[in-house]
Amino acid sequence: MVFTFALPDYPILLGPLADTLPAWLAGRRYSNVLVFTDQNTQTHCLPRLSPFLPAAPGQVAIEPGERCKTLDTCQQLWQSMFAAQLDRQALVINLGGGVLGDMGGFCAATYKRGVDFVQVPTTLLAMTDAAIGGKLGIDFQGLKNAVGLFKNPAAVFVDPAFLDTLPPRELRSGFAEVLKHARIGDPDLWANILARAQAQPAGQVPVAASDWLEVLRASIAVKVRVVTEDPLEKGIRALLNFGHTIGHAVESYFLESDAPLTHGEAVAMGMICEALPAENGRGGHDTAMEQLILSCYGHRPIPEQAFPQLWALMGQDKKNASGAVRMAVPDAEPFSMRLLELTRPDMERRLRYYNRLV
Ligand code: GLY
Repeated sequence: MVFTFALPDYPILLGPLADTLPAWLAGRRYSNVLVFTDQNTQTHCLPRLSPFLPAAPGQVAIEPGERCKTLDTCQQLWQSMFAAQLDRQALVINLGGGVLGDMGGFCAATYKRGVDFVQVPTTLLAMTDAAIGGKLGIDFQGLKNAVGLFKNPAAVFVDPAFLDTLPPRELRSGFAEVLKHARIGDPDLWANILARAQAQPAGQVPVAASDWLEVLRASIAVKVRVVTEDPLEKGIRALLNFGHTIGHAVESYFLESDAPLTHGEAVAMGMICEALPAENGRGGHDTAMEQLILSCYGHRPIPEQAFPQLWALMGQDKKNASGAVRMAVPDAEPFSMRLLELTRPDMERRLRYYNRLV
């Protein structure tokens, strides 16, 4: 079964690659095809993609991981595009997770002022979030996604079968974005996940393998609605950053440590901190969400000596305006938000609250 999300500029095709990619390619006349992978997706995913591509496409494999989302790796990708003599009628296929898709898309969108690219996400995070909505870029000077642009892909092909290539920790990481989408825009999906989590051992994602298609359909629908309404993040799209103002800073802080956090682990922690009511503010603690997140992701206290650096990192957040750190939190109604100004004492209060949870 294939579900099609028809966005204004491009389709997202959710279903087996065999039922989507060949028909889409057949309707186009690309001069050349170059596949970007990382070393993991080259081994585990490329053999599943290759049967649907024209004979002998070019292929480049980069090192996996956030640490490689750099200008140096971009140079490697651009060089491979020149070496393959791609012209502007060529197609780049990004086969990988969020890092590969953001960076491969960035290189494709800037090579000779832009060639078409498609996203074939292989992680849960990329399937439900990163591959959708045209945000491309790389990290720079220790800041996540500091350099980049908005440019939509020609299409996105989401095949849930790739989820079986993921280690459990990577699946849990992507699940944080599913939680985020459910919490901000789909009360039924949220209730469904909470109910499933009751019956699930700690440390596991509460979705059975056979249910991913439905869960992805609901989660992608939330993202599609937001990016269609606000493609360039002038308003409601900021809500997709729920959990990320604090989460990105925590992720960046631990990136250089011996025990980095995954993106989803950091965002889940950020969701707990950001959902906390303002001091004397309205609303109660979202204890159901806190329990779900602690059960799925465990607990990783943030050392107090990290607070100054975390505050400095939050000062670089792209939502900030006029020097104020801003975070978007969901309001009572689905797809409604409040944009809060975060002060340093408030950040510390929120992190201390998280530290005390167990
Ligand atoms: N991942 C957040 C966004 O696409 O806006």
